[in-house]
Amino acid sequence: MSRLDSFIRRLEAQRLCLDWATARIANTPGVVLELGLGNGRTYDHLASRLGPGREIHAFDRQIAAHPGCVPSAGRLVLGELRETLPRFAARGLAVAMIHADLGSGDSAATAAQATWLGPEIAAAASPGCLVLSDQALADPRLAPLPLPDGVPAGRYFAYLRG
Ligand SMILES: C[S@@+](CC[C@H](N)C(=O)[O-])C[C@H]1O[C@@H](n2cnc3c(N)ncnc32)[C@H](O)[C@@H]1O
Repeated sequence: MSRLDSFIRRLEAQRLCLDWATARIANTPGVVLELGLGNGRTYDHLASRLGPGREIHAFDRQIAAHPGCVPSAGRLVLGELRETLPRFAARGLAVAMIHADLGSGDSAATAAQATWLGPEIAAAASPGCLVLSDQALADPRLAPLPLPDGVPAGRYFAYLRG
């Protein structure tokens, strides 16, 4: 498989997961957290699927997204997630879904990040929250969910916050 094929497959799997997750939370009240705004591609997809009635809060170290894919100031959280996510969780908002898309080309750093990310995500998620992640997460409060058909094993990970 060429690198182009692999890239396209990764994005198709990501879109399948996002479409599945947004349909699944249709009747779950609460805000949605996008961890890793990046270029704003998945934020924009979530916004288009969820519609204007759903608050989406996007997190990143800095803004690198297309201006049309940046949330308003009150819904943009800039800084290191290890600090910003617990601070956000302390606000006590109901959180219906968390999408984490934080992987980088540095697989060791990405894996190290996933070890503290699981507990921080579990702490920020409300009971019943759907968690979707490009990295496997480990926390006893996060029960693994099967992914939609067509998503290769290990490509994406889904959990239900108990
Ligand atoms: C793969 S990119 C996100 C791509 C984006 N979801 C999209 O579709 O355009 C990962 C992003 O996560 C951010 N990120 C990774 N680790 C972070 C951390 N610990 N704190 C804040 N942002 C982080 C990076 O700055 C980068 O913009």
